[in-house]
Amino acid sequence: MAQLTINGQSYFADAPPDTPLLWVIREELQLTGTKYGCGMALCGACTVHINGEAVRSCQVPVGEVEGALITTIEGLHPGNSHAVQQAWVEHQVPQCGYCQSGQIMQAAAFLARTPNPTEEQIVGAMDGNLCRCATYARIVGAVKRAAEIMREGVRNG
Ligand code: FES
Ligand code: FES
Repeated sequence: MAQLTINGQSYFADAPPDTPLLWVIREELQLTGTKYGCGMALCGACTVHINGEAVRSCQVPVGEVEGALITTIEGLHPGNSHAVQQAWVEHQVPQCGYCQSGQIMQAAAFLARTPNPTEEQIVGAMDGNLCRCATYARIVGAVKRAAEIMREGVRNG
């Protein structure tokens, strides 16, 4: 039984240690904001943060993340208003929405390390997160805007 810390809460997962973290998050813990897309690390729909890094949860055995700090889209911000989420709303990024929590988690981890990104860096960072609705141009615009919101927040204390 793996003890997990997800969104600041402690959980015991019943699943065998080789079970993908994604299944535990969605099926056992019912945190269904994280999506299943490909199951092969090819789409990014299942992206969560592990110790602040964007990680494909479909590829992480639950037994390997005991003691790690795991964050899902539900825990990104207590009011669902992380700078990335604010920018996503401003730019009306989602279409069907399926890929979007993975996109947001990817963008949030990227901006935490790269507060003033170039367009090229944004495109490179978001490249592995696929969107069947092709919202890519809005994603790039929203990541730029999220960086601005974060910088304004730092300036205004
Ligand atoms: S479901 Fe994990 S990368 Fe596609
Ligand atoms: S918004 Fe539909 S898959 Fe991205």
